[in-house]
Parts: sequence; structure tokens; C-alpha cells
Amino acid sequence: MATMEAVQFSFTERNLALNKVPIPEVRNPLDVLIKVAYAGICGTDLHILAGEYPCRQMGAITLGHEISGTVVEVGCGTNTIGIFKDGGWAQYVLCPEEQVHKLPQNLTLEQAVLAEPLSCIAHGWDITSPLIVGEKILLLGAGITGALWACVLHLQGHRTVVVSEPNTTRLEMMRKLNTNYKMVTPEQLKKNAQKDPEWYSFDVVIDCSGDVGAIEQGFSLMNSGGKLVVYGVAPPANKISISPYDIFRKEITIVGVRTNPYTFKKALDLIASLGSRYLSHTALGVKPFLLSEYQEAIDTLKKGTIMKAVFRM
Ligand SMILES: NC(=O)c1ccc[n+]([C@@H]2O[C@H](COP(=O)([O-])OP(=O)(O)OC[C@H]3O[C@@H](n4cnc5c(N)ncnc54)[C@H](O)[C@@H]3O)[C@@H](O)[C@H]2O)c1
Ligand SMILES: [Zn+2]
Repeated sequence: MATMEAVQFSFTERNLALNKVPIPEVRNPLDVLIKVAYAGICGTDLHILAGEYPCRQMGAITLGHEISGTVVEVGCGTNTIGIFKDGGWAQYVLCPEEQVHKLPQNLTLEQAVLAEPLSCIAHGWDITSPLIVGEKILLLGAGITGALWACVLHLQGHRTVVVSEPNTTRLEMMRKLNTNYKMVTPEQLKKNAQKDPEWYSFDVVIDCSGDVGAIEQGFSLMNSGGKLVVYGVAPPANKISISPYDIFRKEITIVGVRTNPYTFKKALDLIASLGSRYLSHTALGVKPFLLSEYQEAIDTLKKGTIMKAVFRM
């Protein structure tokens, strides 16, 4: 039986290992075998490793739900790939046909590994719309999620955006996107808002951190009629403390955004529009790793000295 390398997570032992496993076989007429080119590691994967996000609770599972690659065999069921069934942190991955999207010719596999995170943002965009040019927007968190939100907002013409992030290395990386957005730490944001409360009051606050303190700070800086977008995934037991009176007084709308129902096509269109102006791995701080470097990839991502880690096969 032909084998391949795969980075697998053991639910019982709570660790990752590089295993030799059989290359999956196409048995179902609706399955497609993909030779993986890139597979991303995202914040949700880190939540899975920390036991803060549900995944398949038996045996070892290959993680990786952000995948680009080439079709090698079609046979052509939905469980989330890389969360409840084996995913793309491997040389090959078996996907149901309905989750395979053909890339337009001008898109690269390097850009396409960002399709999954962008498909979530495309859904967030739909839920949050209308986002009107000129509205003041606060983005909380400058990981890859905050960075991709910044790219999409800039593409759509938004210029009055403040990005808050405690990790100054990440703020520096965000500057490289040349959006001219104001970059501040949460501490600076607090001071600036005390000095100039009128300017530092926001129509839209988009949390891309999953951090309780960030959401509370964002909420405290909202304009009347404002929208709070809960995009970050907080650990399920965490609670925010906000004043119902302020929700009433300011007529605040709170919206949640959960992954990407049917928005992959929109994500591919977004990638085509964003193009190399925004989506080069270098400009976005995306670093490629070998499968065997999985520990280094996770550690570097956790340190926050890069925006995102991807496996390049
Ligand atoms: N809703 C969805 O569909 C969806 C999709 C993808 C990711 N996510 C979630 O979005 C979040 C971000 O993803 P990521 O990959 O960029 O993660 P990440 O951990 O790399 O980035 C989060 C950033 O938030 C920053 N942060 C922490 N405390 C903060 C504070 N008080 N104020 C401002 N920033 C603060 C961190 O320093 C970090 O840089 C995660 O929780 C992830 O699970 C949600
Ligand atoms: Zn993800």
C-alpha cells in the first residue's frame, strides 16, 4: 500500500506527530483525491491543539482545513475536512467533490491556500453589510485574520480604519500592507481615546482576536448605532462583561460570524480582485514549512513573529 507523510493530532494524547499513513483511496463516487500543494495552520487549529475547539474525538486525525493542490483522481459526503475527518496537513487529502473548487487560471496555489480564511471573511462581509465607506472601523487583532479583513476593507474603499494589536511585531507586519491604517496597541488605543474621544469612537468594531479584553475595549469605544462583529473564536467558557444599558442607549447591533457556508466562490472572486497587490505570502507574513517542521511551524505561529504558517509540500 502506498504511504504518505501526515501531521496528525491524537485526541487522547493531545499531541502532534508526523506519521506514515496510507494514501487515501477514492472509493466513493463523489470523492476527489487532491495532491496537496499548500495547507495552512490557522488560529482555529491552535484552539484545537489547546482543547478549546471541538474536533473528532477518536484516534489520530490529520488536521488542515485550508488547502490548495491539484486533483489526481476523481471518484466522485459533509464533515469538516481537517476537523472531523482527515485534512490537508499531508501529501494527499480526500475531499468530497462539493468541497473542491476549480481555480481560475490566473490564481496561484500560493494564493489559493488563503481561500478558506477568505471564504469566512466573505461570509462575515455578507452578514455585516452594509459597511459604508467613511464609517470608522476598529479591527481588533492583527493575526492573519485581522490582516485579511484589512485587505478586504481596503480593497472595498475603506480608509478610516484603526487596527489594535498588542504584538508590535505584528503591527509592523500589518504596516507592510501599505493601507495607511492607524496601527496601535490596546494601551495606545486607550490613551488616544482618552485624549480624543470623538475621533476614537467607532461605527463598526470587528473582533479578530477572540480575546475578552479586546471585545470589551472595542465595545466601550462604539458610536451610537454601531455594529459589533464577533468574528474571533473565544474559548467557549469565556464571558464578556458589557452594559445592557449601553446596548440600549446606543442601539448597538451585535453579530456573530461562523465560518463559510457557501462562500468559496465569493472567496475565489475576492482573491482575483485582491491579487498580488495584497496577497503575496511575503507581504502578508505567511511562512512556508515542511511537514517535518510542524513543531517549529506551530511554535513560530504561537510566538506571533509571523502572521501565518503554511505547509508547502
Ligand atoms: N468567524 C470565523 O469564521 C473565523 C474564521 C477564521 C478564524 N477565526 C478566528 O479569528 C481569530 C483570529 O484568527 P488568527 O488566525 O488571526 O489568530 P491569531 O491568534 O494569530 O491572531 C489573534 C491576534 O489577536 C491579538 N490580540 C490578543 N489580545 C488582544 C487585544 N486585547 N486587543 C487586540 N488584539 C489582541 C493577538 O496578539 C493576535 O495577534 C481566532 O480566534 C480564530 O479562531 C474565526
Ligand atoms: Zn481556519
